[in-house]
Order: sequence, then structure tokens, then C-alpha cells
Amino acid sequence: IKTADEIAKMRIAGRLAAEVLDMIKPHIKAGVTTLELDSICHDYIVNKQDAIPACLGYGAAPGRPAFQHVICTSVNHVVCHGIPTDTKKLKNGDILNIDVTVIKDGYHGDTNMMYVVGGETSILANRLCNVAQEAMYRGMATVKDGSYLGDIGHAIQQYVESERFSVVREYCGHGIGNVFHDEPQVLHYGQKGTGMRLEAGMTFTIEPMVNAGVWQTKLLGDKWTVVTKDHKLSAQFEHTLLVT
Ligand code: MF3
Ligand code: CO
Ligand code: CO
Repeated sequence: IKTADEIAKMRIAGRLAAEVLDMIKPHIKAGVTTLELDSICHDYIVNKQDAIPACLGYGAAPGRPAFQHVICTSVNHVVCHGIPTDTKKLKNGDILNIDVTVIKDGYHGDTNMMYVVGGETSILANRLCNVAQEAMYRGMATVKDGSYLGDIGHAIQQYVESERFSVVREYCGHGIGNVFHDEPQVLHYGQKGTGMRLEAGMTFTIEPMVNAGVWQTKLLGDKWTVVTKDHKLSAQFEHTLLVT
């Protein structure tokens, strides 16, 4: 449960993260590489926001190097944790998720959204992005003092599957504060009235990943990039929330 002082800091961190997503939008166009987008975000976070990019150097584990970039850039069939690269240029109709996490005054703000390169894509890709965003909002709408973690997952899963898409299981939302990935795990599937009871002052993310085909994923050899097992499209939206 965050104190009033911590909540004030979380609001600032959350706003800064959101401002990065706004700032980068006009830079997303055909011919640009995701590494160029990463470098623009890096400069903005460090020099304009005087904040710390939380992903840079994060997450080293046995057999996995630390993440070496500021944003995750997940294009088309990449589910999450896509590594910015200069080897591929974005093209019109690509769907791109940019996930940004900043630390300001010790507290984390974590948010992501979809962008359509060139503004137009297939009917399917467009619907997938809209369903992922609406799924996030439906999960958020359940959140209040006294609701359950399982209510979030239930609302998301029920909606996504009614649209004949699937919900990724192996990655989830998370508690957040002075720790990046804190307890609890916030699953995007599940049953109403189950799991932790929410209380005012809790902060966590909701970040459903929605697949056009099967929910199963595959981790690439770089140990970060997560792709759909069937190589069909995936979309995600993320907010950091405070229970009021
Ligand atoms: N921002 C991601 C999340 O939503 C985590 C990215 S970790 C990284 O939780 F190391 F891949 F950047
Ligand atoms: Co994130
Ligand atoms: Co997150």
C-alpha cells in the first residue's frame, strides 16, 4: 500500500512514461528503424525528463543478458520484449508496440501502446489492436477497493475470447512502485472473485497481450524477444494503475 508521498511520485513517473509515448509518435513512419526510435527515447528520457530508463541494463539472469535498450519495440507477430534493431526498417501497415518504463525519484511508470505505421493496416490487424486496448480498459473497469485480482483477468479473457482472439498466458501485469516488477502477478485470464483482494493504495499494471491465433508463445534465441507460436499477429496495451 503506497503512502500519499509515494502516490505523488508514481503519478509523476506515470505521466513521464506516457509523455514518451506521445513524443515518439511523429517519428514512427516507414523507413525508420526501431533502433532510431530507441535512441530518440533515450535522449528524451535522460536529457529532457531527467529520468532513468528502467529497461536499460535490466533483467540479467543466468543464461540471459541484461536488456540493452530503453524501449521494447514489438512488431507484428512479436508479442513483447522486442529488441530495437537497425537491421529492419518499419514499413507501412506494420503494427508496432512501444513499451516504456521510466524511473523518476525512485518510482516506476510503465506503459505501452500500439502504433500503426503509416496509419493504415489490414482490417484484422486494426481489429486486433482495438480489441487489445478495449481488453485493457475492461480489466481496468473492474478495479476498485474490495474487488479481486481475478476480476481483471476474467473481464479481459471473456471479452478477448468473445472476439475470437486469444490471451497470452506466460506474461502478465505486475505490482510496481520503487520495484519494477513487484508482487502480485496480474494475470489477464481467470475467474471472478479469486486471488488477492484489492485495496486503495495498491499500484500495479494491466497489460494484456492479445493474439490473432493461438495464445502460445516462443522465446527467441536472444532470450528476450517473445513471438507468437503460430507467427500470427499480437497486440498489447499497458497502463500503470492506482487503486482508489
Ligand atoms: N515494460 C515491460 C513490462 O511491461 C518490461 C520490459 S523489461 C525489458 O513489464 F527488460 F524487456 F525491458
Ligand atoms: Co511495460
Ligand atoms: Co509492465
